[in-house]
Amino acid sequence: MFKFNFSRQDSDESNVEKTEEKSNRNWLECIEVLRDTNEDTVIQDIFANCEVNTLQCSDINIEYFATVDVLNIFRTSDNESIKKLSVMCADESHSDLQESVYEGGMKIWECTFDLINYLVEDKVPLEGRHVLDLGCGAGLIGLLCLRSGCSCTFQDYNVEVLKYVTMSNVQLNDEEYCKKCKFYSGDWNSFTDYTRTNEKYDYIFTSETIYNSSNYSKLHNVFNSLLKPDGVIYVAAKSYYFGVGGSISLFEDYIVKENKFKSSVCWSNSDGVNRKILKITFAL
Ligand SMILES: C[S@@+](CC[C@H](N)C(=O)[O-])C[C@H]1O[C@@H](n2cnc3c(N)ncnc32)[C@H](O)[C@@H]1O
Repeated sequence: MFKFNFSRQDSDESNVEKTEEKSNRNWLECIEVLRDTNEDTVIQDIFANCEVNTLQCSDINIEYFATVDVLNIFRTSDNESIKKLSVMCADESHSDLQESVYEGGMKIWECTFDLINYLVEDKVPLEGRHVLDLGCGAGLIGLLCLRSGCSCTFQDYNVEVLKYVTMSNVQLNDEEYCKKCKFYSGDWNSFTDYTRTNEKYDYIFTSETIYNSSNYSKLHNVFNSLLKPDGVIYVAAKSYYFGVGGSISLFEDYIVKENKFKSSVCWSNSDGVNRKILKITFAL
């Protein structure tokens, strides 16, 4: 295993492990994750002991558990199945990502906040829309959508992220939300196959998911299969992911090459690590 810095600017806190051999990866199959609150003592522990943060977005408040507290519950658990979680393997080697094992959803990445600010400040119409929070992690973008009157599907690679973080956050904001949301874990290709007969989405929101260029065809497949013809995709990302090689420009080139969508930069920052938001719609 080689360990690379995920982003040069964030090098002290963000690491990714990649093996030299990129083929023969066993990507996890998609499953629909269902809520099992009463049985699970870890979930009870999260509700009893994790700090609750509040994100104020204009007149909407989003509440969410501190992911570091959830991770600490995992770290100190004597439950064997918790010790074996994929996120714990990454945690032991101080990695934020381990390709095809753990894809980073336990941490809230900064472009999530860029996209939330953009949606609120630009007054992107959300009410009544059907949205997909793709690679959702803690699910803050989906929570903004729920609070704004959307129906929402949450997708994350790792089942433990959905079960312990995303669903807990959804429940924390409103018990009723859990009933009208769907949650899917597993790889994007498998997710597309599993859900392609479901209703398509008005919006697909995705933050910090383009770091691995070998997954661009999967992302494109999700977009092409699950977006309504007049739907819109917003991709929030850093301009370049040091050590892993993905970048906004590589992703834009991929979109152009496939010739299905058109994309434009609708937001970029002016300080710190360069970050952007792409707005993508079908080309025709
Ligand atoms: C760096 S995390 C970003 C999490 C969250 N969007 C944020 O901004 O805080 C990348 C996310 O993309 C998802 N992801 C990455 N590769 C994936 C794949 N091949 N299939 C499914 N999900 C994937 C992971 O579940 C993970 O939550």
